[in-house]
Amino acid sequence: MIKTNNNYLNLKNNYLFAKIASEKKKYISKNNSLELIDLSIGDVTLPLVKSATEGIEKAKNLLSNIETFEGYPPSSGHSFLKEQIINNDYFPKNISINEDELFISDSSKSDISNILDIFSSNLTVAIQDPVYPVYVDSNVMAGNNIIYFNSIEELILKLENQEINLDILYLCSPNNPTGDVITKDNLEKIVMYAHKYNYIIFFDSAYEAFIQNKDIPHSIYEIDNAKDVAIEFRSFSKTAGFTPIRLSYTIVPENIEINNISVNSLFKRLKNTKYNGPSFLSEYAIYNVYKTNNLQELYTNINYYIENTKLLFDFFKSKGLIDNKDITVNSPYVWIKTIDNMNSWDFFYYLLDNFMILGTPGSGFGKNGEGHFRFTGFGTRENTLKAIERLKDKL
Ligand code: MLT
Repeated sequence: MIKTNNNYLNLKNNYLFAKIASEKKKYISKNNSLELIDLSIGDVTLPLVKSATEGIEKAKNLLSNIETFEGYPPSSGHSFLKEQIINNDYFPKNISINEDELFISDSSKSDISNILDIFSSNLTVAIQDPVYPVYVDSNVMAGNNIIYFNSIEELILKLENQEINLDILYLCSPNNPTGDVITKDNLEKIVMYAHKYNYIIFFDSAYEAFIQNKDIPHSIYEIDNAKDVAIEFRSFSKTAGFTPIRLSYTIVPENIEINNISVNSLFKRLKNTKYNGPSFLSEYAIYNVYKTNNLQELYTNINYYIENTKLLFDFFKSKGLIDNKDITVNSPYVWIKTIDNMNSWDFFYYLLDNFMILGTPGSGFGKNGEGHFRFTGFGTRENTLKAIERLKDKL
């Protein structure tokens, strides 16, 4: 008899951002939506940069012509783009990646969840709390055993003392939602222990382009020997504002083996069977940015979001709502304490009902996020300033 995957019954009712979207819809159906300021989901608000839209135009011309038309792309993406990614994102850091290790995809959210297919079930997976909820949800769906750690320092201590035994370790640096970054020293220790204890690291660097501190690694492959133990996930959603057109990539090094089986070849097999490759238009959009040396256009937008984040950060710091006094802005998110020890969802409705501001309840990112709240710096400058103005004398 057919049965459902009952692991799904262990999930929270709603995916965090789906719940926020439905609360937003409910609110709009009853109120004047024009005044609503949405600083919840990390979604970009600036249009695509010129060199990207020119790339789409070029792709359109190629696809409109019988001589240059192409059908399905290779399932791991086109070589013309792989070459640019390798030369621009890795080569300058002395990291050598070959094209077979690079899988261009539509979304790192899908890759970081679907990759679990190639591993056995009942794995022990370590995930930081708080963190991007996709890691937890996809491992609950897969029926894996999740162990949580509160901080990178605590994780390292537990590894040092052999208190935990893991198969997969998820790292997100800069962390979504807290913005915390992993130092080179700590990353070196984590890679060293991965060699010693045979776990694989999933390194999500979706927000690497927002790092402001010079000494913080952008890629895990900046650490010696990381290519034996780490898979890296990157996205163009935030870096290039591609949330509407979708594009990402995953590096699965050829060195990683489990019981003499190449993880790269299994991932390739998964991709060939379950995926028909990324959109040519999206690939060409970012290809044109690289090819015409227009990465600075992306950084102009990234700096705009960073400025928004700094405005929010300074405001909430002045209100005493930032936990970690030493933290600096390295991500497009601001992580604050709620006021009067309100729980995260109460604070969500408090801000919505009284100030028409949407944010993301911290508890959606894990138990440790309770009593906290996340604002995104991806709003418009106008809305960011308006939100600060509305809250100025009220918190
Ligand atoms: C976020 O707001 O955390 C992310 O943008 C959501 C996502 O990437 O799925």
